[in-house]
Amino acid sequence: MIDSHAHYDDGRFDADRDDIIRKAVEAGVTHIINPGCDVESSKQAIALSKKHPEVFAAVGVHPHEASSCDEKTLSRIEILSGEEKVVAIGEIGLDYHYDFSPREIQKELFSKQVSLAGKLRLPIIIHNRESHQDVLDIVKAFRSDNITGVFHCFSGSVEMAREVLNLGFYIGIGGSVTFKNARRPAEVVEYTPMDRLLIETDCPYLAPEPFRGRRNWSGYLNYIIDRIADIKGIEYNEVERKTSDNARLLFGLDRFLKQPEGMLER
Ligand code: NI
Repeated sequence: MIDSHAHYDDGRFDADRDDIIRKAVEAGVTHIINPGCDVESSKQAIALSKKHPEVFAAVGVHPHEASSCDEKTLSRIEILSGEEKVVAIGEIGLDYHYDFSPREIQKELFSKQVSLAGKLRLPIIIHNRESHQDVLDIVKAFRSDNITGVFHCFSGSVEMAREVLNLGFYIGIGGSVTFKNARRPAEVVEYTPMDRLLIETDCPYLAPEPFRGRRNWSGYLNYIIDRIADIKGIEYNEVERKTSDNARLLFGLDRFLKQPEGMLER
């Protein structure tokens, strides 16, 4: 299984970061995508990708940090994007729930980062909270750049899912699908074809039931797979395999496949 969205650079993993990544790999996690939220955490994501073969980085500035950006920020992100295991620009987007940065500044920064992704031919990892229409408008404005990516921790309606799928994007499903009374995420899973779903933890946040409120980690992905299998009426293994295929395709992970043993020796 592939965790398409995890924040192992977060301070809540300071005491056991390397151990918990190793434990996730032992539990069957083959790849972890670790997005950055600003220049510093993007650098930390890259450092983790160098240390752990299973970790891949995304670089970008989260909408919460939009007002602390200056003109150098984006050029730093662009430089970091050249590192070997950077597979996406993210997480980027808009957040009108917290509004930590003024909306106009959030929109400007998001547009610039979508444009950068188009130039670099990298997929984007989108954070969207209560900003559905503006996020869609900006993504649509860059349609000619063939932008693709994932709406991480998708929180929209089936109507919005239809628009997202029409744009060629993937839908990221996390712990919230397991919450009691989570009617909307279940409807979206039911509606979305299997070849467009990704699974994610967003750890340390958003632990699934029965761990809600506790620290999350990639080893809890099986609760999300279970729930999707249940909603779709298909086997657990099929959800695991299809969501892994989707993540490998979107993030181009197969280009990192190891050379067969022996070839390295020569
Ligand atoms: Ni996140």
